[in-house]
Amino acid sequence: MSALTLSTSSAATLRADAIVIGVAKGPKGPVVTPGAEAVDKAFDGKLAGVLETLGATGAEGEATKLPAPSGLKAPVVLAVGLGDAPAKDDAFGHEALRRAAGTAARTLAGTKKAGFALPVEDAEAANAVAEGALLGAYSFRPGGNGAAKKDDKAAKSAPLAEIALLGAKPRDKAFKAAADRAITVAEEVNRARDLVNMPPNELDPKTFAAAAQTAGKEFGLKVEVLDEKALLKGGFGGIMGVGRGSDAPPRLVRIAYTHPKAEKTLAFVGKGITYDSGGISLKPAGHNETMKCDMAGAAAVFAAVVAASRLGLQVNVTGWLALAENMPSGSATRPGDVLKMYGGKTVEVLNTDAEGRLVLGDALVRASEENPDAIVDVATLTGAMVLALGNRTFGIMANDDAFRTSLYEIAEEVGEQAWPMPLPAELRKAMDSPVADFANMGERMGGGLAAGLFLKEFVGEGITWAHLDIAGPAYHESAPYGYTPKGGTGSAIRTLVRLAEQTAAGDLG
Ligand code: BES
Ligand code: MN
Ligand code: ZN
Repeated sequence: MSALTLSTSSAATLRADAIVIGVAKGPKGPVVTPGAEAVDKAFDGKLAGVLETLGATGAEGEATKLPAPSGLKAPVVLAVGLGDAPAKDDAFGHEALRRAAGTAARTLAGTKKAGFALPVEDAEAANAVAEGALLGAYSFRPGGNGAAKKDDKAAKSAPLAEIALLGAKPRDKAFKAAADRAITVAEEVNRARDLVNMPPNELDPKTFAAAAQTAGKEFGLKVEVLDEKALLKGGFGGIMGVGRGSDAPPRLVRIAYTHPKAEKTLAFVGKGITYDSGGISLKPAGHNETMKCDMAGAAAVFAAVVAASRLGLQVNVTGWLALAENMPSGSATRPGDVLKMYGGKTVEVLNTDAEGRLVLGDALVRASEENPDAIVDVATLTGAMVLALGNRTFGIMANDDAFRTSLYEIAEEVGEQAWPMPLPAELRKAMDSPVADFANMGERMGGGLAAGLFLKEFVGEGITWAHLDIAGPAYHESAPYGYTPKGGTGSAIRTLVRLAEQTAAGDLG
């Protein structure tokens, strides 16, 4: 990942390939934002006018490159839009800063070092700029380092290597901590993005589990892996039922971070379908090209546990990665089969493409056995949630209204788009089955909510639980924006990490 430093240099004296400044939409045209004073001075105070001449308005997403005047050591100035200028005495929103920094880092791919002179009034603002820059500078290197792509144009596409944050106070503890937190969170988000972007012939349940073991060694986490033999013996009928059609057998990974003074324990459960073909209920062409992303929930859980550990949070966090490949074959589960889930409930599989809830059902029962204070599952679970909320917003369902609200507020705070969704009890009836406790599919209308209701059946009595359906935002197919690249996004990680921080601080019941 790119390196990030807090620099005491001014934008005029920093030796770099570019200086990044902010431009906002003022009432009478673009205005240069705080942090850019030295740059404006080098333009004889006429920078806003120059930007306007070049067509800049200050709108979000805008990036305007201009040659630096002689007063600067850097040859290029990059002005990025921050949207509407805040009212007098108000600060810029953190997400606007995060996105602008991300746009700048993306625009500067191929250059070595840039100084970011965006408005960073306080440590939180510095955290947002640092996070946005580090997330925006991400690029997936196929095969580790360009190996899988002959014509990599490596130099041109290489991410911005060095980010110097100007205006933040390097000797101030709060700023230093904000930068360190941004580095850790961005590294973990980028770890998850890499896993999601890996082709499914390289990342299968076994190699995913191995990655968890490697990280466990590196960061002192306890990692236990149940392989197909252990899963069969243990009665994990959901995970086995989904994985049995594939030559790459399933795994259940438990990855645990513990703090000696922790008072609370969180369990995070991730859907880890390394490839979802649909199984015997095969997906048609046009619906299966991006299904390597179906392990994004497990990647998010994995990354969040590692982040909690690296941040040394005073809370226990246990991650459960339910890993399987959903393939059709002579040994695959058929529509009509009845599976006996971990814990004993039976499920009639009406559609083998509704596989996420099967692997998660097992994992939720297993996670419940340890009686955590709360469980949050993360899953690319339903196309219905994408229809409901679009490509950038995940749905939050829960068995506890206050917990759902907390998660919604946390998501908003960390700059992740999310929305609370209900679990209407009447949708449960359509999942009744004549041959099992229930079927894995109900009515089509409200399919995302029905999936949530299904999962709820596997949560232990009295345990607070929430379900994040990230099917929309987990994988970004259109043009990059802000700090969001094409491909894996790392959706929900920042929300999980903040939940762990707040739980550690005792802010949640
Ligand atoms: N992995 C898919 C959901 C999905 C869709 C993820 C689009 C990302 C983008 C899930 O396993 C699935 O196939 N769900 C079915 C359920 C249905 C058969 C009840 C769906 O949503 O169509
Ligand atoms: Mn599916
Ligand atoms: Zn799936």
